[in-house]
This record gives sequence, C-alpha cells and structure tokens, in this order.
Amino acid sequence: MKLWSGRFEKDTDELFDDFHSSISFDKRLYKYDIYGSIAHAKMLAKRGIISENEANQISKALKSILDDIEKGRIEFDVAAEDIHMNIEKLLIERIGDTGKKLHTARSRNDQVALDVRMFLKDEIKEIQKALKKLITTLLNTAEKHLNTIMPGYTHLQRAQPITFAHHLMAYVHMFLRDIDRLSDCYKRTDVMPLGSGALAATTFDLDREFVAKELGFSKVSENSMDAVSDRDFVIEFCATSSILMMHLSRFCEEIILWSSLEFDFIELDDAYSTGSSIMPQKKNPDAAELIRGKTGRVYGNLIALLTMMKGLALAYNKDMQEDKEALFDTIDTVKKCVVIFEKMIATINVKEGNMLKAAQKGFTNATELADYLVRKGVPFRQAHEITGNIVKYCIEHNKTLEELTLDEYKEFYKGIENDIYSAIDIANCVAKRRITGGPAPSEVKRAINSARERLK
Ligand code: ARG
Repeated sequence: MKLWSGRFEKDTDELFDDFHSSISFDKRLYKYDIYGSIAHAKMLAKRGIISENEANQISKALKSILDDIEKGRIEFDVAAEDIHMNIEKLLIERIGDTGKKLHTARSRNDQVALDVRMFLKDEIKEIQKALKKLITTLLNTAEKHLNTIMPGYTHLQRAQPITFAHHLMAYVHMFLRDIDRLSDCYKRTDVMPLGSGALAATTFDLDREFVAKELGFSKVSENSMDAVSDRDFVIEFCATSSILMMHLSRFCEEIILWSSLEFDFIELDDAYSTGSSIMPQKKNPDAAELIRGKTGRVYGNLIALLTMMKGLALAYNKDMQEDKEALFDTIDTVKKCVVIFEKMIATINVKEGNMLKAAQKGFTNATELADYLVRKGVPFRQAHEITGNIVKYCIEHNKTLEELTLDEYKEFYKGIENDIYSAIDIANCVAKRRITGGPAPSEVKRAINSARERLK
C-alpha cells in the first residue's frame, strides 16, 4: 500500500510505477535523508510535538536502517517511489505507529531539497580537494620548467617565446577561479529548506534554526515557496562544472596536439595512453580525448536542467525530479576527469629540446626586434614595418633573425648596432618580460609562490 493511498480507489499502473519512481537513482541520497530525518525528529521532540521517547526510538531505528543500507542488507521497493518514502516505509515496518509520526510538519518537497543540498555541499568539497591536488601538481611541474622555453601561440601560429612553466600557470589560474566559483556556489547551496513544507510552511512551531545547526547549515531559507522550487544551486553547480570542464578540455586539446609527431613537445606515460588494434606503432592520448569528449555531457546536463526548469509555475513540480540524474552524472564525470587529468600531468615526459627548437623557428623574436628599434627612437608603427621587411628578407634567404649579419641589418636601419643579437636572443626575450604577469622565470616563480599561498 502506498503511503499516500488514502484518497485513491485503485492502484497505479505498474509501468507508470516504474516510470515515476526515482529510487533507482535517488537511493544515493540515503545518508542525507536519514541525517535530515534524525534532526527533524529531535527538533519535533524539542518543541513538544512528539515525545522525547518517540524521537529516540525514531533516531535509533533510522540509524539501524542506515547501517543495514550500508551493509547492503536493504532491497529498495520501486512501489515506494523514492528514497524518502522507502526509508519512511522501513521505519514504520520497524517501529510501527511511532514511525508514522516522523513526517509531521514535513513534505517530501522540503525533504528532497534538504537532501540534495546536503549531498551537494559534500561533493563540492570533494571536487575542490581534487582540484587543489591538480593545482599542486601543476605548480610542481611548473617549478621544474621555469627555464623551459617554448613558443607561445596565437591563432595556433608561433607568436612569441614563453616558458612551459608560464603556459602551465595559465591553467593554474583557471583552476583557481574554478575553486572560487565552487565556493560561491557552496554559499548558495548552504541554505536549510526544512520547515517550508509542501509550499506554504506549517502551523507547527518548528525550530528551523536548530535543524540548520544540527545539520551544519549556516542559514535557513526565507520563503517557503522559493525553498521548495529552487534548483538554482544545482544549475549553478552544473554551470560552474561546465566552465571547469571547458578548462580541462582546452588543456586536453593542447596535450593531444603536443603529443603528436607534428609538435612532439611531450610524451604521455604509457599508463594513460592506449594502442591501436590494427596499427602497431600507435600510441593514442585517449585520456585527454575522453576528458575533452566528456565535456559535452556536462554541458548537456546544464542545458537539460535549464530547459527543465524554464516553464515551471511555482512551486514544486514533478519535473524537478529530473534534476538528480543530471546532477549526479555531472558530479561523477567532473570528479573522474579531474583525478585522471592530474595523474596524466604528473607523469608527463617533457621534451625541452623540441620545445626550444620550435621557439627558435617562426621568428618568435620579431616583436623583440621591433621593440629594439623603438628603444633606438623609431616610432612603433615604423619599427613594425621595418621588422616586417627584415622578416620577409629572412624568409627569402632562408635565414633566422639571429643569422643576419650586422651589414644586412644596417641595410634596413642604420641605427642597428651589435647589441641587436643579445636583444633578440630567445632566452633574453623571455627573461626581460618580468613585469607582473609576464613569462620571465623570476616573475613566474613569484606567481607560483603566490598561487601556493592561495591554496592554503
Ligand atoms: N522524488 C521526488 C523528487 O525527487 C521527491 C519529491 C516528491 N514530491 C511530490 N510532491 N511528489 O522530486
């Protein structure tokens, strides 16, 4: 018999039972549902709505149910729809009429909002922990490559020399922002909705602040209708996760490029690569490709949630039950991706020689030549033009800027002196860019230290 069957004359269709039941996925919330119920029962007793003895009986039985679920001794019942009614049903089976008092002044609408919020708070912390580990690995790798020169790109064309450390640190800053965004999302998840009832709160004089304190929430919701129909925090989490996945995906794209023979900047560890079933020579960057691919799932979940919510009149609607699978899938995907990505980076083999060689080709020091002319008093636009002509000459004569003789230089601008060679030296190009945010080893070292401080 259903817990709500009083006004019905016949059973629900079996197929429909299966269709609208959520136990197959929301069972994952069991721990939070039980903690929430224990706090609710305690509070009901505190306010004299049930007796102390009844509250104790309820808590004890709920703890034994928790233990049984954890030991795999419980088979959930699809007919009991969701985790909330499954646990209530088990409770009533164990302690009879006293168990029937637990749901006083509560609805599944405020209950599910509570469970999801508690669950997500824990998961946000887990993801932040994984991100911190990833950032630490990136910082350690960057520290080893402060002087590893590579080309920096725009339009995927060699642009200016940078270092591998500087490149890695760009991602460190993205991931630091992701941690911040998760903290922000945590703030809005950390709101206790119990006491909102189905939508119009309750006439019972509940102690909502007590429940919030028991369950570790820093505040209680202030509008009962909003509290039961708000899924902003789920959407915000998925949006934040989408941005995080976008960062991982961009990084993966670079790793895929860098490990191709065309770039040949890095080699992935065998542990995070796969072979081909037909081409014996192949070593594929599958881990990076999969993370890039899974970004699409996370975006999809975000769009599914936004679309699911957009037409819902206040307050709760069953549509909202669809939030859980999208949320769970996002959490599982993001966690796995961050963990695998960290391992992949930690074991990467960097081919410093190839990076340097690439930076030495493609005239990545041409801007430096133009800046040199500016320092000799040439207006920048004109310096740009002269340098462009020099580059054209080099292409025609198959030379690099370093290989031009002083006489050749003087053909383009008389004021060029012998000091041109140290000015356009690739290592100098990097070392002189030591303003805040620049790629100079000294500045990147400072940025690494400051990121380490922020991680604390
Ligand atoms: N399983 C439901 C959900 O996840 C719980 C809330 C059900 N509320 C209701 N009025 N039917 O949304």
